[in-house]
Amino acid sequence: MLKLKIAIVGCGWVAGNQFENGFALLRDLFDVAVCCEIDPVRLDAFAGKYGIAGRTTSYADVLAMPDIDAVSICTPPSEHHSMVRAALAAGKHALCEKPFTSSLELMDDVIAVQKTSKARVMPIFQYRYGPGFERVRALVRSGLGGKLYVSSIETAWLRGAAYYQVPWRGKFATELGGVLVTQSIHIHDLFMCLAGPVAKVAAFKATRVNPIEVEDCAVASLQMKDGSLASLTATLGSARPSTRMRFCFENFTIERHCFDLEAPKPALEPWTIVPMRPELQRDIDAATAGFETNGLFFAGQFRSFHRSVTGDRPFDITLEEARRALELITAIYSAAESGQSESLPIDSRHPRYKGWHSDR
Ligand SMILES: NC(=O)c1ccc[n+]([C@@H]2O[C@H](COP(=O)([O-])OP(=O)(O)OC[C@H]3O[C@@H](n4cnc5c(N)ncnc54)[C@H](O)[C@@H]3O)[C@@H](O)[C@H]2O)c1
Repeated sequence: MLKLKIAIVGCGWVAGNQFENGFALLRDLFDVAVCCEIDPVRLDAFAGKYGIAGRTTSYADVLAMPDIDAVSICTPPSEHHSMVRAALAAGKHALCEKPFTSSLELMDDVIAVQKTSKARVMPIFQYRYGPGFERVRALVRSGLGGKLYVSSIETAWLRGAAYYQVPWRGKFATELGGVLVTQSIHIHDLFMCLAGPVAKVAAFKATRVNPIEVEDCAVASLQMKDGSLASLTATLGSARPSTRMRFCFENFTIERHCFDLEAPKPALEPWTIVPMRPELQRDIDAATAGFETNGLFFAGQFRSFHRSVTGDRPFDITLEEARRALELITAIYSAAESGQSESLPIDSRHPRYKGWHSDR
């Protein structure tokens, strides 16, 4: 099995999470050979803690290392676009954390640049990798559900003053947005994997929980391309963190409600699937039987990344799907700030194509 040599770039919270819950579990597939961090104290601490031999404060140095196959970009959001672009120019594959870029324009730029590069980028959406979500996605893809009627999606998490001690958080210039951009982006990605493309959005947003610039509460009403309706709620002010996803299809209702430390893990079981008529149960059981997961969260996504890179196969999370997440954010921001509903798709003619925030 070909081992990929990886450089982790930005050695903060998510980098440690990626290492412990991803790369460290897949030592047969990956060698994290280098870490890169502008803060030298943090660099040494990270390299020491995880036993990484190569260390540098310069991303340019990483891209010049001939034996590095791929970079994992774990820097704050405002750094992602230039780093991904530079990786593609240097012929290095990349994993890039969410939110992928600060605008649809920059997203389209990466999509265009990737077409000219021998390297490829996989956006991080590790919430997709878990047995429960993968099972219901297979069920929905089977078509057994029939028509989707409505979806209700609630991301009710908790963040307080300690979370906003990190200087880049809470500010438009560096975090690029609040709960919609940083937290519920994952849950809305899962939602769109099951419910398909969004056609129209009406929305409100507010900052009510923390003294920050960006939104920490939002609601949106959606009409989907298939004609179904959806409601999205997101807050960082829920005393008991929870995530709830409910999809009412013609032939069954599927639901997941998870709490506390499980709130960010809706991909785990149990998902409940309630058939509209008892005789449908047999078909549902058959459609979900023998289902095997790729692995959990980062380990699942990284295994998939390795398989695609070494097997020259398409990634199972695409740049177009990262764009879809940013397009929903752009539509919600625009609808909430204008008071008008917003139609998708959003292209270069839209006034918020260069950035969802009105100051851009
Ligand atoms: N997928 C997830 O579940 C998940 C969870 C948390 C954070 N994130 C995302 O990961 C990214 C990082 O978040 P975090 O919480 O780890 O932030 P963090 O502040 O803990 O870490 C970011 C690190 O990047 C370093 N850095 C900044 N610019 C750099 C540069 N040019 N070169 C090298 N290092 C640089 C910073 O010094 C810092 O140590 C954000 O985009 C965030 O939204 C994703």
